[in-house]
Amino acid sequence: MTSGIRDANCPECLDSFQLGSLTVWISRPQQPRAEDYLRRPEVETPLAACLSRDEFGPPLAPLLVGPPGSGKTTLAQVVARRQERPFFRFQGNSSVTAEDFLCVGRIAPTGVEYVLQPVAAAMVLGALVLVDDIDKVDSKALSLFLPILDGATTIESTLLGGVVQVSPDFRLVFASNELESLPLFLRTRVVTFRVDYPDVGEVVRMAELHVPDTGASLTRAFLHAWKRRNGSNGSLAPREAVRIFQLAGKFGKTGQPVRGAVQAAMDAVLGSGAGGAERRG
Ligand SMILES: Nc1ncnc2c1ncn2[C@@H]1O[C@H](COP(=O)(O)OP(=O)(O)OP(=O)(O)O)[C@@H](O)[C@H]1O
Ligand SMILES: [Mg+2]
Repeated sequence: MTSGIRDANCPECLDSFQLGSLTVWISRPQQPRAEDYLRRPEVETPLAACLSRDEFGPPLAPLLVGPPGSGKTTLAQVVARRQERPFFRFQGNSSVTAEDFLCVGRIAPTGVEYVLQPVAAAMVLGALVLVDDIDKVDSKALSLFLPILDGATTIESTLLGGVVQVSPDFRLVFASNELESLPLFLRTRVVTFRVDYPDVGEVVRMAELHVPDTGASLTRAFLHAWKRRNGSNGSLAPREAVRIFQLAGKFGKTGQPVRGAVQAAMDAVLGSGAGGAERRG
């Protein structure tokens, strides 16, 4: 194996190895996040504990459940970084098959090449993989995880005609917007953590970290506009708050006063007036 070298034949790959006469490429892990993260110890600490291997047993697989934009993907990235593990992410969708988690084939000038996908790459490299949006994945495909969650040390890939070794450093995290549609065989094998929208003060601090140049007047205008819109009720996704701050900054640059810029950005991101407020009723 040629460790850590980016090869011109597969720029999105980390490495390759030979399996008989086959060249198998390994996907590249994602870069860790920059320091624009607000710590959430109430979820981060139990999540990290769940992933530890210790005298109480092997690592358990967490399932992060929460509404869109609440911070599930971010949390998994941050925990991987704190544990100094390479981070992979697989985006779930309705057409994924079990084999898609492991390996895909593609035509190259030299013939067919195989590329280990994030789940298999993480198994081989001893990395953390987030399997995201599993509520969109068919339960037949999800059954691939059954032996892994039951402690198997090798997983068979039909496409490779061989087995993938599961490193003891491999860590598996799932994320989903909801719990109800997930098959029971999975729900009984994972540890479920709720990741809800933080309170508005915390969400605003997250937005400030992402858009640091906006200044205190934008935050004040934001809180004022939010109160007018929702009173003391309502919740807001960190993703939406970041968008509002970014857009208000852009509007402000056109000469619009800060209050007007924030109001216009909030209306654009959340939908104007009562409809937007009802959405989060
Ligand atoms: N703890 C945090 N600190 C700073 N920003 C955050 C934090 N959590 C989330 N964000 C912001 O919110 C955005 C959305 O978060 P993230 O993608 O993690 O949500 P998600 O729950 O995975 O959403 P989805 O269900 O749509 O996949 C992030 O890109 C980031 O801008
Ligand atoms: Mg996500």
